[in-house]
Formats: sequence, C-alpha cells, structure tokens
Amino acid sequence: MVQSVTLRRPDDMHLHLRDGNTLRAVLPYSARQFGRAIVMPNLKPPVTTVGAARAYRARILAALPASLTFEPLMTAYLCDNTDPEEIRKGFNERVLTAVKLYPAGATTHAEYGVTGTDKVAKVLDVMQELGMPLLIHGESTDPGVDVFDREALFLDSTLKPLLDTFPALKIVLEHITTEQAAEFVDADSSGRLAATITPQHLLFNRNAMFTGGLRPHYYCLPVLKREQHRLALRRVATSGSPSFFLGTDSAPHERAAKEAACGCAGIFSAPTALEAYLTVFEQENAIDRFEAFASENGRRFYGLPPNEGTVTLTHEPNDAPRSVPLGEGKSIETFIADGELSWQLSAQSSR
Ligand code: NCD
Ligand code: ZN
Repeated sequence: MVQSVTLRRPDDMHLHLRDGNTLRAVLPYSARQFGRAIVMPNLKPPVTTVGAARAYRARILAALPASLTFEPLMTAYLCDNTDPEEIRKGFNERVLTAVKLYPAGATTHAEYGVTGTDKVAKVLDVMQELGMPLLIHGESTDPGVDVFDREALFLDSTLKPLLDTFPALKIVLEHITTEQAAEFVDADSSGRLAATITPQHLLFNRNAMFTGGLRPHYYCLPVLKREQHRLALRRVATSGSPSFFLGTDSAPHERAAKEAACGCAGIFSAPTALEAYLTVFEQENAIDRFEAFASENGRRFYGLPPNEGTVTLTHEPNDAPRSVPLGEGKSIETFIADGELSWQLSAQSSR
C-alpha cells in the first residue's frame, strides 16, 4: 500500500472564502494546501466591478497568515447589466481571472445572476476575444423542473446553445454532479470546455443527506445525486482526461444557518479537501493520476504556470477539527473530519 504521496502544490479552482471574520477563520485551511484558488464572487453585495475585486483580493491577502503563501485569483459576478468594458479592464489589469455566471436564483447569493444568456452576449463576445474563462453554475432555474434534474436539463437548454453561439469561448462547468454532465464534457474535444468536481460529489450520493434523519451538512448545490452519477464522476475524475480538475466548492456557512428550517446550501470542505480527494483516487487505484487532477489540468486550462513547491500526504488518521470557531459561540461544521479519513497533509513547501 502507498504510504505517502508527494505532488506539486495543487490549486483549488472553485472556492468560497467569504469575508470578515469568516474569511480569517477559513482561509488558512485552503492556503496550507493550495497555491492558488479561483475565488467566487458571491459576496453580499456581489463582486461585480474591478474596484470591488481588487479590494476583496487585498482583504484576502491581509487575512493570510504570514507563514503561508497563497494567490487568490479573482472572479467577477456576471449580471444582466455588466459592462463588457469593465470585464476587459479587469482582465487587462490582471485583477480578474474569470467571470462567474449564476443563473438568477440558482444558488446561495445568486439573486443578482443572469436572467438569460442573450442579456450578456456583449460581455461574452469580449471574453471570447480575450480568452477569459466563463465559469458556469449549470442548473436550470425553472421552478417546474425537479431539483435532481436541473443540471442535466441545463446542458441542452443552455450550455449547448452557448457553445454554438460563442465557438471560441472558454467555459468551465462548475461542480458537475451528473453522468450527463460528465459525458457532455468528456465528449467535447475542442479543449475549451472543462469541469470542476467537488470532493462531496465523488464520495457521497444523495442518501448521505437522509441517513437516519435530515443531514443539513451534506446539503449543497447542485445537490448530491444518485449512485450512478457518483460513479460516473469518479470515472472521469480519475481517467486522466485533462478536461476535469479539482475545485472544492468549499462553501462555509455558520452552523445555525445550516441547521435551520430553511438551511443554506454549501459544504465547508477546506480543512480536509485534499485528503478527501486522495481517498477517492486511492480507492480507484489511480493515485498516479492524482497530481494531474489536482495540480496540472486546472492551471493548464487557465494558462497559469505550475506552482512552485510540493505537498506531501501521509497515510495516518486525519486530525482536522470537527468544527471551526467563529467567535461568539458561532462555528462552521467541517465536511468529514475526526478520523473519518486516513490521509493527512504532512508537509508543504512553497518553493
Ligand atoms: C455555494 C455558497 O454557499 O456560496 N453553495 C453551494 O451549495 N455550493 C454557492 C454555489 O457554489 O452554488
Ligand atoms: Zn460554489
């Protein structure tokens, strides 16, 4: 059995860091594993301008412990009225790496999202010209559509027409959860369509939300799906295909906001994300493909240089905290902790 794995320092291509107290509490968990992260813009209010992204980046860097190196890669939250020239400016000034498209109302803080892709055609024209990636939360928002079918439906209703209308636009379909999405991305040979996959969608199916009762800490969007979908995601993630890469979608919410009559969607995986992914690759006999998924495919798609340095994971009981304190009695529950994993990040070097 492999006892220790060393790989080039990885990147988290989909991360929610929040702001203020929460940012300070969660950031070290990501920064000790990942060299860079694509930082989601769904703050309240959302990050829609170059100025707001620059200021948010400065707050993230100010919250970073001096012992860690970490580069936040900023995104803008796309709205119906986003000015294409603002996006061009953000990209050219190296403030914005990508743009995030939330269909209006699709998920947490998505109320300012896009009501139709025709509304943002001019922005997409500019992004296509710049080679700037569009990151999509790929779910239909039609309230008549079953919540478990929303991703599969989005592929034909929205993604396919978008790919046809913008033949050179780079697109990341974020946090894919279904066999249909896995096959859709796998079938594209253009190299301009890719997908991120979260640890929870590789490790659990929808039963996890209902084991012995209602389990709000397993609730995220897109919601966990049937076993056949989990297996399909594991196949593509471990296949060696460059179109699939690591994006945790770690999305912290205070415990009380999740354990509520109308609980928030989002799983806080940052403290154990890398160990959780490695568990999957080990179970699939694909440890030799883990570095490509975690450290190479994403940065290549984004046109970024490889990270300096390495991380080492060792086979031993994981000691991540069950919850992360926020002060004033508040806390965030960690996705799988307390000895539930048998890998532990044991060393990290940034050079
Ligand atoms: C995310 C959040 O809380 O910001 N929640 C989630 O369930 N994934 C939003 C998102 O990425 O959909
Ligand atoms: Zn997300």
